[in-house]
Amino acid sequence: MATNTVTDEYPEISLTRRDGLKLAALGIGSVATLGVGVGGLRAVTNGAFSAGSGDPYDLWHDWSTMSGIERVVAAGVLACNPHNTQPWRMVVHGDTIDVHSDPSRRMPLNDASGREHFAGLGCAVENMVIAARAAGSASQVTLFPDGPLSDHVARIALKKDRTGQDRDLAAAIPHRHTNRGPYTSAPVDLSGFTEQSSRVHGASVLWITDEQARQRLGRLYVEATEAITADTAQSTEAFTWFRSSRDSIDKHRDGLTLDGQGLSGLTVFAAKLLPAQSRKDGDDYWVKATREVHTATAAAYGVITVDDVTDRTAQVNGGRLLTRMHLTATTLGLGLHHMNQITERIDRDTTAGHPDVFSARWAALLGRPASTGLLSFRIGHPERTPGLSPRRSLDAVITS
Ligand SMILES: Cc1cc2nc3c(=O)[nH]c(=O)nc-3n(C[C@H](O)[C@H](O)[C@H](O)COP(=O)(O)O)c2cc1C
Repeated sequence: MATNTVTDEYPEISLTRRDGLKLAALGIGSVATLGVGVGGLRAVTNGAFSAGSGDPYDLWHDWSTMSGIERVVAAGVLACNPHNTQPWRMVVHGDTIDVHSDPSRRMPLNDASGREHFAGLGCAVENMVIAARAAGSASQVTLFPDGPLSDHVARIALKKDRTGQDRDLAAAIPHRHTNRGPYTSAPVDLSGFTEQSSRVHGASVLWITDEQARQRLGRLYVEATEAITADTAQSTEAFTWFRSSRDSIDKHRDGLTLDGQGLSGLTVFAAKLLPAQSRKDGDDYWVKATREVHTATAAAYGVITVDDVTDRTAQVNGGRLLTRMHLTATTLGLGLHHMNQITERIDRDTTAGHPDVFSARWAALLGRPASTGLLSFRIGHPERTPGLSPRRSLDAVITS
């Protein structure tokens, strides 16, 4: 998935972002001076001082004090999801929540098969099941109640139960964030991912920890990232989901932001003062970060596997497992960064009729057919605290 940025024009500032990243190395005093001298007002309007606060971030702060079915739906909205497209709309009647796909939030070039879109819906379903269970309600989940081609992805019927399972995972819901920053060289202890936390029907996790395999996989990620950024149409589509100014975050309340890129606080601050990146600069940054940070500091990779990645139910169940892994990582103090460039490129090559350059090497790394590797991520001990990502309000998400 591309993490590049959309351009909001700030013609009054002539410095480039690269200048800004260089200036960031001068220290906070210099950057603060830059902010006052060059972009003082911009710093305020572009959210340099208000990261993680204001309406688009309210649900993260309010969730713990919410109650009833509202708290359950809010848990779904706080789930990880592809490109922060928030691909859902929910219909609530009594104790039942219907989860629908919003097709206008699909990304046909970056997620050609829809695997991430439906996995993201699965993430929301599982966050809701976990929140309900921890609060004493069992969930009866029916996937695709109107058939597999329907946008009606799930019906969740809640019934009082009082078992209170999954309390640890539920407590992690407002603390779970995608961490794209560097991880330390400390190895991860995977024994914390117990069978209980990693169990979803039809989906499993394959861990890649061996150093040689990690290096081979790392090279494949870099190559896939280069292929996405060289594909103007795919890169341009990803770029439309980047919100580079506070105004666009407040307006859309979705998409990727500078705060979520795992940069140091000082670099983010400087980046907000300076003109927004071009698509090309964002892509260059993404390739470099994939090579020098993401793959260079991955302590382990996890791959969610299913019988057939094209099966809608398997995609949703894979997402349900992914959420459990992410919440478990949060309870263990581990960083988790979803990385799906390889499969995005496999799907793009297939639908565009390009030669398939990734499937064979993906399959060799997994030791199983490429058609079973649904989603992937890296984990490790994080060096930085991840920023919050914006969310639409419950009023915008709940429809009749
Ligand atoms: C199915 C799926 C695929 C994703 N793929 C990527 C990816 O390839 N690269 C990436 O940086 N983040 C990826 N993400 C993370 C999302 O961008 C992230 O969940 C979203 O921006 C919301 O941020 P949050 O997880 O911090 O709440 C993915 C998430 C999901 C659920």
